[in-house]
Amino acid sequence: MAPPRNSELPWDRFDPFGYLESNYRGMRADDAEILRRTHAWFAEQTGGAAGHGLDVGCGPNLYPGLAMLPVCRTVTLIDYSHRNIAWLRSHLEHCGEIWRPYWDLVSPGGRNGAFEQARRWLAERGRIEHGSVFDLPSAAWDLGTMFFVAESITGDHTEFTVAVTRFLSALRPAAPFAAAFMEYSAGYDIAGVEFPAVSIGERELLGCLAPHCAEVRIHRVGIGAQPLRAGYCGMLLALGTTRATAM
Ligand SMILES: C[S@@+](CC[C@H](N)C(=O)[O-])C[C@H]1O[C@@H](n2cnc3c(N)ncnc32)[C@H](O)[C@@H]1O
Repeated sequence: MAPPRNSELPWDRFDPFGYLESNYRGMRADDAEILRRTHAWFAEQTGGAAGHGLDVGCGPNLYPGLAMLPVCRTVTLIDYSHRNIAWLRSHLEHCGEIWRPYWDLVSPGGRNGAFEQARRWLAERGRIEHGSVFDLPSAAWDLGTMFFVAESITGDHTEFTVAVTRFLSALRPAAPFAAAFMEYSAGYDIAGVEFPAVSIGERELLGCLAPHCAEVRIHRVGIGAQPLRAGYCGMLLALGTTRATAM
């Protein structure tokens, strides 16, 4: 049987509340490491200059957006699931307490402002759009994130590659990006609904990213003593910049 494709999956049955509870209610060590590295990468690459940020396939995860906020005039949050878009519309205006420890990593000692500041910025700078990674415009954003999306929205390896390529081509030449992936994922369940995944490791990921990047480095984050769920081996964080010329 052919692996399931993105358009065949029940994205409007993706439960943002269940997903948020099981993934982000308490900040995990792996997410903390990913967030710290991502924020540091953007701070270093932008030198603090403000640009337009993209988080694609954001779901109810606000931490990639928080990582970009201090260096962004706008942060566009795009998702394909209408349920996730509805969740974002009702939560972006008043970012919940759950995100406070995540913001504390982005703003240690209040260096980038207090949590109240982050809340105001999210409400002012956040833009919510329903859309697909496969239909993103080219060269439209200055920096971007895509966390646990390309490998977790399809069972089809070619679609995984296309999703990665489309994400990178939505960024301007030489733009910094951060992209996170589940390593060797066997798929996942959210509130009783099964979603497939493409099983990838460091080598496949690098092979997919490198042709479109001026620079890219993959950080492997081990599974640790308390895995998020069964059926994966760790997390992979790719930090890089897109090629200096348009894709
Ligand atoms: C595993 S979740 C990851 C959510 C979030 N980025 C995170 O870090 O936890 C995959 C997300 O991709 C979204 N998605 C599915 N198909 C998509 C598509 N074609 N374009 C953009 N987002 C899509 C889903 O609705 C869901 O929010």
